[in-house]
Amino acid sequence: MYSEKVMDHFNNPRNVGEIDNASGVGTVGNAKCGDIMRMYLDIDENQVIRDVKFKTFGCGAAVATSSMATELVKGKTVNEALQVTNKAVMEALDGLPSVKVHCSLLAEEAIHAALWDYAEKHGIKIEGLEKPVSDIGEKEEAPEEEY
Ligand code: FES
Repeated sequence: MYSEKVMDHFNNPRNVGEIDNASGVGTVGNAKCGDIMRMYLDIDENQVIRDVKFKTFGCGAAVATSSMATELVKGKTVNEALQVTNKAVMEALDGLPSVKVHCSLLAEEAIHAALWDYAEKHGIKIEGLEKPVSDIGEKEEAPEEEY
């Protein structure tokens, strides 16, 4: 049911933890399943993501997608990190079962929430970044596809 990559990131999640004095922190949840994800970003003066850590209180797919999402945004600029959509994360994981697609939205939204927090703290505007929602259940109406 799960790809090898999903199992690998679930069993050995990368970048788990917290960052003290993070440049941006984002927390999002899904009220339907009760899962929560928190993302910490350390961003340098060139707007490059120097470090990223996450904590997920959620299902295995949420852990695997957050882990892969942190790998994908590390070393990227904030604008590049915006391109790391849940679809990109799922592709990098060789797919997710369709009932688990919504879990990957937590990862995308947590990154956006952390970027939003960073932008607010530093008084900057990140082009294309919309104000994140704290409950991604609101976003789940989008059609779910299998990847
Ligand atoms: Fe809630 Fe996966 S079931 S994030």
